Amino acid sequence: MIFPILTTERLTLRQLSIDDTQDILVLRSDLEINKYLDRPISSTTEDAINFINKVNDNIEKQNSLYWAITLTETKTFAGTICLFDFSNENNSCEIGYELMTKFQGQGIMKEAVQVVTDYVFQTLKFKNILACVHYDNQNSIKLLTKFNFVNSMETDKENPALNIFTLTQ
Ligand SMILES: CC(C)(COP(=O)(O)OP(=O)(O)OC[C@H]1O[C@@H](n2cnc3c(N)ncnc32)[C@H](O)[C@@H]1OP(=O)(O)O)[C@@H](O)C(=O)NCCC(=O)NCCS
Repeated sequence: MIFPILTTERLTLRQLSIDDTQDILVLRSDLEINKYLDRPISSTTEDAINFINKVNDNIEKQNSLYWAITLTETKTFAGTICLFDFSNENNSCEIGYELMTKFQGQGIMKEAVQVVTDYVFQTLKFKNILACVHYDNQNSIKLLTKFNFVNSMETDKENPALNIFTLTQ
């Protein structure tokens, strides 16, 4: 498939490559970034390489999409944003995102979420976007609220600390 590169005023969202290994390792090992995330910590370069290969494999199989968020001007890696759990039955997919610590608090994720939600509604044509968020993850809840995601008051079946937020077109 042709990978959908997305752009905004400041950002280029592109496919991950092996050159991103160090940045992916930071994102997936930093304790603060992972505080509310329900996933195993990556601790070695090998973990990060395996992760990138798995991500690109899933894109090839059209199971998910995963973008590196980069600053267009400097090509700096700022974070990632992804879509997964595509469901024709529920007309939905799920969104996930994370920023390197030094790129938080600048409105970068707001820009990325805007272009990715537009992509879901206009190109993938799903009507619902889900986000599973830890009830204490204020930064993420604040971001979702700006886009009118609504707390469905349902929790993730496997982890009751995760609330399911939904945005319907
Ligand atoms: C969730 C996360 C991506 C939110 O990042 P963020 O930087 O707070 O989100 P935004 O990009 O929307 O930036 C918003 C902040 O930038 C500020 N800002 C500065 N310049 C801005 C601009 N030009 N435009 C918009 N906002 C701007 C806003 O005022 C806001 O700050 P505030 O919260 O103090 O009011 C980040 O906290 C993170 O990576 N957390 C760890 C991973 C994680 O938990 N992911 C979510 C799992 S559900």
